[in-house]
Amino acid sequence: ADALKIGVAGLGTVGASLVRIIQQRSDQLAATCGRPILITGVSARDKTKDRGIDVRGIEWFETPEELATKGDIDVFVELVGGAEGPARIAVQAALNRGLHVVTANKALLAYHGVALARIAEEKGALLNFEAAVAGGIPVIKALRESLTGNTISRVYGIMNGTCNYILTKMEKEGLSFADCLKEAQRLGYAEADPAFDIEGNDTAHKLSILTTLAFGNQIAVDDIYLEGITNISIEDIHAAAELGYRIKLLGVAQRTDTGIEQRVHPTMVPVDSVIAQVDGVTNAVAIESDVLGELLMVGPGAGGNATASSVLGDIADIAKSRPGAQQVPVLGHPARSLEPYRKAQ
Ligand code: NDP
Ligand code: HSE
Repeated sequence: ADALKIGVAGLGTVGASLVRIIQQRSDQLAATCGRPILITGVSARDKTKDRGIDVRGIEWFETPEELATKGDIDVFVELVGGAEGPARIAVQAALNRGLHVVTANKALLAYHGVALARIAEEKGALLNFEAAVAGGIPVIKALRESLTGNTISRVYGIMNGTCNYILTKMEKEGLSFADCLKEAQRLGYAEADPAFDIEGNDTAHKLSILTTLAFGNQIAVDDIYLEGITNISIEDIHAAAELGYRIKLLGVAQRTDTGIEQRVHPTMVPVDSVIAQVDGVTNAVAIESDVLGELLMVGPGAGGNATASSVLGDIADIAKSRPGAQQVPVLGHPARSLEPYRKAQ
């Protein structure tokens, strides 16, 4: 069968891991997808940087947009980041060209997800974003596909690996907030601007996407009550422990009698609860629904390999999809029929 041709924009933590895994597992991927997966174009800012990957023989593009518009590709993979600028321009261009898109960019989706979903659905293109929420945990697939037919009442969890890593290290190793953050950055967990992690915005971006998938409303990231972990001290963590609690940064979205409530804030959770045991870069997402009951998914929430695993799953889904077949709506519900967001009073 013909190879699926991939263009990868962004060769940082996630992009470099993805390229490495695709190259190392080409036989396995060809066997499981029924066709080879071939990287035919790449793009990043610095062409001379040693990234520990071999991109010789792969066409280099100066900008993500150039790759999206001129690359000999079937799928545009966006691993650049940012709600605006090159990522947005390139994803839009790729979808308008009718290419399938895979992205890990929750900021982009939180602000432009509905508009991008509309273009994808009009063009018959797939827009997959499993890696955008909770890293390696397949929560998008759970909400978008597996739970179809359930009515969801609540989605909540630990959705930022950097914050959970910091809170865990502060508690268990007595390290300072600043040192824990530096370590999270070194390990490739943090955003390019880590203020997005520690001030809660990244969790809000992710929560807004889950809310839309769960409740069928338009994405409303700016309506989320938002409080990050920058004011949490080691004393707060110890005081909570004495009372039998641990502090976790949670994102919560729930149906109420008056609308949908969305919030992100540090929360005291009882030490003997499952979510309290979730440590380090691990994330946890709970989904409460009427037919299934409570589903709790726990797994690696950030880092090159964990994230690349989800990106690769999205690529494999495209490789296995039949051209022209009816697709699952990008946001779980057709983008044109998403309801206005109704904030709980
Ligand atoms: P990095 O900062 O490590 O990599 C970003 C890449 O994009 C780099 O290769 C960089 O080029 C390139 N780039 C940045 N700005 C531009 C620009 N203006 N024009 C062209 N290329 C540009 O980010 P990550 O790999 O960590 O993250 C990528 C995406 O994945 C983001 O959307 C992030 O939110 C998301 N994500 C990240 C996770 C993680 O654990 N790291 C987990 C889940 C999602 P150069 O290398 O030359 O500087
Ligand atoms: N910076 C993010 C985190 C990456 O720490 O969770 C994964 O989305």
